[in-house]
Amino acid sequence: MTNRTVAQLLSDDITLQEVEIKGWVRTFRANRFIALNDGSTINNIQCVVDFENTDEAILKRITTGAAVCIKGELVESQGKGQKVEIQVNSIEILGDSDPEEYPIQPKKHTFEFLRENAHLRTRTSTFSAVMRLRSSLSFAIHKYFTENGFYNMHTPIITGSDAEGAGETFRVTTLDAKKPSLTEEAEVDYKEDFFGKETNLTVSGQLEAETYAMSLGKVYTFGPTFRAENSNTTRHLAEFWMIEPEVAFMDLDGNMDLAEDFMKSVLNYVLEHNREDLEFLDKRLADEEKKLPQAQRSPMNLIDKIKFVVDNNFMRVSYTEAIDILRNSKPNKKKKFNYIIEEWGADLQSEHERYLVEKHFKCPVILFDYPANIKAFYMRLNEDGKTVRAMDILFPGIGEMVGGSQREERLEVLKEKMKALDIPEEELWWYLDLRKFGTAVHSGFGLGFERLVMFATGMSNIRDVIPYPRTPQNAEF
Ligand code: 4AD
Ligand code: MG
Repeated sequence: MTNRTVAQLLSDDITLQEVEIKGWVRTFRANRFIALNDGSTINNIQCVVDFENTDEAILKRITTGAAVCIKGELVESQGKGQKVEIQVNSIEILGDSDPEEYPIQPKKHTFEFLRENAHLRTRTSTFSAVMRLRSSLSFAIHKYFTENGFYNMHTPIITGSDAEGAGETFRVTTLDAKKPSLTEEAEVDYKEDFFGKETNLTVSGQLEAETYAMSLGKVYTFGPTFRAENSNTTRHLAEFWMIEPEVAFMDLDGNMDLAEDFMKSVLNYVLEHNREDLEFLDKRLADEEKKLPQAQRSPMNLIDKIKFVVDNNFMRVSYTEAIDILRNSKPNKKKKFNYIIEEWGADLQSEHERYLVEKHFKCPVILFDYPANIKAFYMRLNEDGKTVRAMDILFPGIGEMVGGSQREERLEVLKEKMKALDIPEEELWWYLDLRKFGTAVHSGFGLGFERLVMFATGMSNIRDVIPYPRTPQNAEF
């Protein structure tokens, strides 16, 4: 007799036999039917207890949330809803669960309630499905890059630079918060700090990834990134995971091709490997949407949305074209946007991005060639002198999923850009070195992992696709 998972017992090629299984009780009905789950699949296995021959005291301890070890016969199910079930011969209670106190009752809980109980929320079908999909996507990402000749690189988490220049970094320090060492000018003396300089948690691994691309050719980093932006939205986290490939000798067109192929490939992977979880989430979303007014419902269900992305080309549109579309759009003319688009050069807000993908193009859109002054310092300046080789990929229901660019590989142009933005050369001497020693065209992008998980699971709040979300005023667990 071997120890198996519920997924194995429910698989098609299992032979009927004596089995042992451990898991948590989801429900216990009529003193007879246990729905048991061990996390290996969205489905529970039904275990039928012979209550007449089972100790009363044991029966009382079979409650929702309890951990149990069951030995019995795997047999064809008499009832409807499952092919096989276990006729229980013996049941051992490994860990009791007080049914009065256990927060995850067999009923519908709000996501807000489950966020407060994030340590137990993966005991629900929805969150276990989401987290299995998250794991699967992570694997698919490593698989894609490995199979396409990329090296995985671990970029540092503590850095001295603010790659995006947005000033939204978390400081890393061991200085005494109340009495930091001060310089003669009465400023905080970072020379006395742990690293002897000002340091912060990384906002992006890109700059370091560029150094490796310029020797190993094709690299990617997939790690945690930190941003102290005080935006309490359903799409922002203070700690999130980012996938950042960086490729030597690749221009912006190559970058777009890579991003599109990559995203289609990983989404296709979960379509093929996570069918049951997707079907469950698909149904969940459909039930949710039924509660909405017709106009707010999405025209496609979850699986069809994923398939649509996998099967269709992303629309490639320049920033300038996008501005024209937006300027002439109904919500702009009727002043329905919070930010009215008047002139070329305006930064796009999420309302504009969503209009483009959801109303106008109705598919993922790659916007490219943005005005230089609304993008980061490292992007390659175009011949027009006012736009840069940037690209953002916008997704229906999500908005910005990817941000990337061809990098400025010309030393003088880069130096000038840094000067204009007050970025000291000493700080990024090594980054400038890349432009001195064998500089070459290169490009890369960053994909926000949680936004991808949101898209693949149909979850609408980013807090529900990461185990323990960090957001302003919240770092529980
Ligand atoms: O557009 P961003 O800021 O680009 C970069 O950091 C580049 N250095 C990437 C590169 O070229 N290697 O961020 C990339 C993506 C965004 O498109 C978004 O999906 C996600 O990271 N992102 C966030 N996700 C969750 N919470 C936040 N606060 C995020 N900020 C960015
Ligand atoms: Mg961006």
